[in-house]
Amino acid sequence: MNIQPFYIFTDKEQKEFLKCLENININPYKDYLNFRFFCSQLISENQVPKFSIDVCKKILNERKNNKIYVHLLRNCPIDKDRPIFDQDDPVNDKYKNKKTFIGEALLEVFSQLTEMPLLAYQTRNNGDFFHDVFAYNQYTGTQTQKTDSDLYYHNDRTAHIIRADYLVLLGMRCFERNLIYTGYIDGLEILKYLSQDTQNILCKKYFITPFDYYSCDSNLNQLISNKHSILENEHTFRYYETHTTVAEDAPIEAKDALIAIKEAIIKAHKQRVQLKNGDLLCMPNQDGLHNREIIEVNNPQEAKIRWLLKTYNFRDTRSLNRFANYYYENIPGLVRELD
Ligand SMILES: [Fe+2]
Repeated sequence: MNIQPFYIFTDKEQKEFLKCLENININPYKDYLNFRFFCSQLISENQVPKFSIDVCKKILNERKNNKIYVHLLRNCPIDKDRPIFDQDDPVNDKYKNKKTFIGEALLEVFSQLTEMPLLAYQTRNNGDFFHDVFAYNQYTGTQTQKTDSDLYYHNDRTAHIIRADYLVLLGMRCFERNLIYTGYIDGLEILKYLSQDTQNILCKKYFITPFDYYSCDSNLNQLISNKHSILENEHTFRYYETHTTVAEDAPIEAKDALIAIKEAIIKAHKQRVQLKNGDLLCMPNQDGLHNREIIEVNNPQEAKIRWLLKTYNFRDTRSLNRFANYYYENIPGLVRELD
């Protein structure tokens, strides 16, 4: 089933929103705290258009009242000038060549209006709070955010102790003739196909997940997770298809449970969307699994330069504060990793 847009900004609204975001001229890659503060001022001084505030309030209400957690906004403002980064070193090339920060401002304002603070890691993209889903030649064919390949069902940063509650993706350069889909399975849908006994085993710390190649390259201490459960709380999953496996000393029933979850994922109801430029997709990272499916590439060069801007978000300030001891130099949300 295709994910239906929750709201489509009219062209007039898009222009008005863009005009507001153009006021921000702080570089979020050099001075995130000031960038964030400036965005919060735009909100507190009522410069952010009312329709965008209303949309964000409606998202929060829908989560609370209707238990719907995936939201797609269309026709959002993005940067007019969107450079193609050098695929041998896209992150550093972005620092040099991206001169406007409309997409970043949109994601920051969205995070503040939905009360979902951002999360970043000191050793991932140099501690940036805004990431690119963009192909990096070195990671072709891998399961990382810098790949141009399919991605199996997973949560982001599965192996890491601190994981985002939500992910937000913003279409910056997408080509409609290439059918590349972002898929989502809600955790509750997976649970329908798991017996109570299997669920009980999945709740035990019998499993491990290796860090992805991009994480290992950025931080040599990040090779493999501690032993973890696959299922937590009611329907929170910690799982990366083909990566998460049983720990060496796990009992045989852990392997049976691992097979059961693979089958449940195949059977579970799935949603998907072909992201377009200006699409903002907000989805749970832990209360469900997501993937990338490349169905049909009609122009390989365009597929290679597809670009989404992305943030990791906590569900609320309480969730951010749970990890207060892990943050670098009093920057809430920036996970310290170089000790
Ligand atoms: Fe992902």
